[in-house]
Amino acid sequence: MKKTILVTGGLGYIGSHTVVELQENNYDVVVIDSLSNSIREVAERIASITKMPIKLYIADINDESLIDALFKQETIDGVIHFAAHKAVGESVQNPFKYYRNNIDGMITLQKVMRQYHVDTIVFSSSCTVYGDTKNSPINETHPVTEAISPYGTTKLVCEQILKDLCRYSGFRGIILRYFNPVGAHPSACIGELPIGVPDNLVPYITQTAAGIRDKLTVFGNDYNTADGTNIRDYIHVVDLARAHVKALDYAFTMHQDYEIFNLGTGKGHSVLEVIKAFEQASGKPLPYAIGARRAGDIEQIWADATKAAQLLKWTHQYNLYDMMDTAWKWQIALNHKQSRQG
Ligand code: UFG
Repeated sequence: MKKTILVTGGLGYIGSHTVVELQENNYDVVVIDSLSNSIREVAERIASITKMPIKLYIADINDESLIDALFKQETIDGVIHFAAHKAVGESVQNPFKYYRNNIDGMITLQKVMRQYHVDTIVFSSSCTVYGDTKNSPINETHPVTEAISPYGTTKLVCEQILKDLCRYSGFRGIILRYFNPVGAHPSACIGELPIGVPDNLVPYITQTAAGIRDKLTVFGNDYNTADGTNIRDYIHVVDLARAHVKALDYAFTMHQDYEIFNLGTGKGHSVLEVIKAFEQASGKPLPYAIGARRAGDIEQIWADATKAAQLLKWTHQYNLYDMMDTAWKWQIALNHKQSRQG
């Protein structure tokens, strides 16, 4: 029998790609999304890829009576929890928004899960929990450190809450620590929808190439790396989404416990390498200038993703070129849509 998975934040960037992969891998899906950083139309776009409907609840994860009603109404077998604010800079400006939404949301969800005896959860965490480390590649045994932003604090605290529930309350949990998710679905039907000026590198690049921004500023070229720019482990969002399905499959085989997995390609790329890959994939030169370092940026970090390969039987399929190619095709699709509407 098909299992039904509740995906919180299922219309968001990683959530929407994960819903597609779940549906294509024989899971039924119920989505809850507050539309705080997404749009309703994403549900139709998902359905245009999978040709399958999703059950959609537009609500806040902190609304306990609604979450309770949802669990009463639906038979939920497991949960993938994405719903959270994720802008590092905003979290510094407005930390309480982050503590309230991300930590309270986690507590509310797990409290209701416990009431309804739903014990299986995959939680969306981040490599930000490793802090500023010089020891890449990083594996899951690397100590987590004091977070460098309130956003990072919420990920650390939520990881801790989940570990407690796995130790003492019969939960089985998987914590997925993402490195840098980029790219879009190859159909160009879903992708990242940044609101306002993007903070992240790849949407800034695609918007610059599309003429929405004048030029990209590279935040520093005086780091101790081969070309002086920061190194990150960029991972295609479809690879990431597939890892969630594998993680869920794995969780259903576990007894009460938790496991942590890094999700990255195991290879670091500099900002200049990303720009070059984008230029190759799009065939367009990218206007950019070297600027000052951005406060809080880590010099270089990439994953050791061996554990996911061994236990989840997951490895990445897409390379940096594919990431840029799909991100660019998604940007073009967005431009077409906007020009039709305008
Ligand atoms: N960068 C630029 N110019 C820009 C934007 C980014 O040069 O306009 C550089 C950054 O300095 C960094 C790299 O591109 O070297 C990647 O930056 P992103 O903002 O895309 O990603 P981060 O690595 O800073 O942040 C990501 C996630 C966070 C998470 C963090 C963990 O967005 O949610 O990784 O390290 F917390």
